[in-house]
Amino acid sequence: MEKSTLSEPILQLDKVCYQYRNKYQSVDAVKDASAEFYEGKTYAIIGKSGSGKSTLLSLIAGLALPTDGQVLYQGVPTDDFDLDKFRREKVAVVYQSFNLFPLMTCLENVCFPLELLGKSPREAAVIAKEYIAHVNLPDTVYKRFPNMISGGEKQRVAIARALASGAKIILADEPTGNLDVANGEKIVRLLRDLAHEDNYTVIIVTHDLSITQVVDEVLQMSDGYLLPMVAEGCEI
Ligand SMILES: Nc1ncnc2c1ncn2[C@@H]1O[C@H](COP(=O)(O)OP(=O)(O)O)[C@@H](O)[C@H]1O
Ligand SMILES: [Mg+2]
Repeated sequence: MEKSTLSEPILQLDKVCYQYRNKYQSVDAVKDASAEFYEGKTYAIIGKSGSGKSTLLSLIAGLALPTDGQVLYQGVPTDDFDLDKFRREKVAVVYQSFNLFPLMTCLENVCFPLELLGKSPREAAVIAKEYIAHVNLPDTVYKRFPNMISGGEKQRVAIARALASGAKIILADEPTGNLDVANGEKIVRLLRDLAHEDNYTVIIVTHDLSITQVVDEVLQMSDGYLLPMVAEGCEI
């Protein structure tokens, strides 16, 4: 991992704040979050429900803009990017509930981002099959619909679809939340292997403390604040 620590971070948070506001109340969901994320590493951001994890992930994903501070991708503030392009090409999100398109086969789900990138259906299918193999799924899933495969397999299809977008930053929001312990651990190991072997940056937000054993670095989110992990006795 020496290479990563010597290079520039692919992603930086610089005093990022986010406030949800409506006419009745405002909620400071993220407060002054600063951090650096490097290629080839897997990060876990742990914290209780309501601590701001999903909001922080949305800010990194460009799904919302910080109300104060900046998210920088390769040193450039994300609000200087065409945000649609940034969301489509630079980051991909994997969710607890998988969010696969239910009326598309697994192969069509993985082809979808490739066709958005301009690949022909034939080219997309060839590349999608490579990604499906890369997440250790058999070719028997190609023609199945998401409701015909297990939770662990669905999450692998979701990861293959994320990879097919070409993004090098994979964000995962509670990716093990709908899986049993053994399958959850396999998914986190897969994400970590993708970071280590293919140089992805993986950021997993979770309240599942067992994930901290598998990743390279752990951060903690508490009441909107992003903190270095306290080794012992943290209460999640
Ligand atoms: N759309 C919203 N409008 C208002 N408040 C919200 C909204 N989404 C989340 N919040 C609040 O922001 C805080 C952080 O939420 P969230 O980022 O979802 O936390 P986590 O993912 O850690 O459970 C919570 O207090 C939550 O109630
Ligand atoms: Mg959440």
